[in-house]
Amino acid sequence: SSFGLICTVQVGDVVVMLGSSAILPCHIITNDRLSQITWQRTIKGKAPDDVFLIIQPTIGLKYRNEKDFRFEFIGNFNDKNGTLKFSNVTLKDEGSYSCIFSLFPSETQSRNSQLVILEGNEEVPLATCTAAASKPKAEVRWIKGSLEGKVREELKETQHANGTTTTWSTLLGKPGREMNGQLVKCVISSEATKEEILET
Ligand SMILES: *[C@@H]1O[C@H](CO)[C@@H](O)[C@H](O)[C@H]1NC(C)=O
Ligand SMILES: *[C@@H]1O[C@H](CO)[C@@H](O)[C@H](O)[C@H]1NC(C)=O
Ligand SMILES: *[C@@H]1O[C@H](CO)[C@@H](O)[C@H](O)[C@H]1NC(C)=O
Repeated sequence: SSFGLICTVQVGDVVVMLGSSAILPCHIITNDRLSQITWQRTIKGKAPDDVFLIIQPTIGLKYRNEKDFRFEFIGNFNDKNGTLKFSNVTLKDEGSYSCIFSLFPSETQSRNSQLVILEGNEEVPLATCTAAASKPKAEVRWIKGSLEGKVREELKETQHANGTTTTWSTLLGKPGREMNGQLVKCVISSEATKEEILET
């Protein structure tokens, strides 16, 4: 909470910059016996309450479906601490994360965090297109679609001893929510080859 500011962040929110690491806290205090900690999430593009990993006393962290190595168990099972470190967060990861403690003899208990990703204000490379060792040198350009006006191109060339030229074009922009999942095309053309279009 803050004074004199409009603040939409709520208790239980974990707010991190796009691409950085988040700590997803998960801890309870109880004298009950703990058999398992289950992590589930509700994010866009996945079924609600998707169980993505479990933590067990001897085995430690176990993935449920895909192995997403961005999750690291940094808590301590004996302390009833199931805290995760979640690195390289993307906009797709935004949502609700809950850890559920399987306890005996009492009922299960859970803790919830809302993961909020902030977008950066710095320009980063979004995509690169390469026309390798071509003679005469190739033209590389982009069809930017809905990203037109939001991104810019940077061209680099290297001439090789054998007379060929490698051309790179990088698309740079400030990562934004509206860019997520958008399609851009790279067009490579030279006199030697017919036009080649790559989608990314
Ligand atoms: C996170 O990103 C860094 C830098 O791009 C990369 O080196 C690292 O392998 C990534 N880690 C995971 C677990 O994907
Ligand atoms: C749980 O583990 C995390 C990561 O090691 C640590 O930062 C945190 O202080 C622990 N919480 C408690 C209440 O011990
Ligand atoms: C020319 O040199 C480049 C860079 O060493 C190499 O990748 C390419 O295959 C060479 N091309 C020919 C036709 O030898």
